[in-house]
Amino acid sequence: MKKIERAAHLIGKHRSLFQCPICKEAVTIKDTSVICTSNHQFDLAKKGYVNFFSKASPKDYDKQLFEARYQVIQSGMYDLLHQKIVNILTSGADKSTNMLDVGCGEGSHLQQIQQRSDRDLVAVGIDIAKDGILTAAKYHPDMIWAVADLAQSPFQGGKFDIILNILSPANYQEFKRLLADNGMLIKVIPRADYLKEIREQVMQQDSQHYSNTEVINNCRKQFDHIQVETIQYTWEVPSDLHTALWNMTPLTWGKKMKKSYQSITIDFDIIIAKA
Ligand SMILES: C[S@@+](CC[C@H](N)C(=O)[O-])C[C@H]1O[C@@H](n2cnc3c(N)ncnc32)[C@H](O)[C@@H]1O
Ligand SMILES: [Zn+2]
Repeated sequence: MKKIERAAHLIGKHRSLFQCPICKEAVTIKDTSVICTSNHQFDLAKKGYVNFFSKASPKDYDKQLFEARYQVIQSGMYDLLHQKIVNILTSGADKSTNMLDVGCGEGSHLQQIQQRSDRDLVAVGIDIAKDGILTAAKYHPDMIWAVADLAQSPFQGGKFDIILNILSPANYQEFKRLLADNGMLIKVIPRADYLKEIREQVMQQDSQHYSNTEVINNCRKQFDHIQVETIQYTWEVPSDLHTALWNMTPLTWGKKMKKSYQSITIDFDIIIAKA
């Protein structure tokens, strides 16, 4: 089966998750398009994803960044984070679970979490960057990928058991609308020492003034139950990944690498929120 047909089949099978982002009506699959009852039509791409975003994607996150993220994530830089998220899922949600990654980039976090989990996960990733979704569909063909804006998401309310939001912008009201009863938001945000080796090279380190309190408090305003877990470790950087590591983060945009790193620091807060 061609990639576009596989994507059409997968979206068709799970069409009850979706709604038209323009008029909010139900959608079906017609040939290789998603179409709503008011005839708004969203075409699937040959590469195996659907585009719900009518404007041009922002150009800041590009193919080079997503390819670099793919290499680094697949090489294990975030394995401990993925395992921690799988453990959170195991303690929380039901066996059969719809999981949405909002701001999924090139999709490796979602793919790694799905692969590590013993759940029967239906995995859906959206990102406003077309290059991210293109890269996701290229490497992970059996998951649902869509170019979409989280402010105008193409999903019915109450359908997702898990929302992942990893190093990406949030819209808590929209997340609450999308989550099923007992659903859970897992939001990963950087702490002061995340990629500190790179930060030290590209900017004045100001970790004393770095705090996630405001982000956590904003989330608390929308969700009744909030728990925050911290994960910190260093990862040995394989020698063939130094350039990819440099290119995978917006921190280095427009800057030249002066030295490479043998190891790199991961330092995250994980917000686990329930309504
Ligand atoms: C730092 S990247 C993180 C990507 C991915 N979660 C990862 O960790 O590799 C932030 C992502 O948020 C996406 N993003 C920004 N605004 C968005 C929006 N309004 N709707 C959906 N995605 C958005 C960007 O395109 C980008 O891919
Ligand atoms: Zn419509």
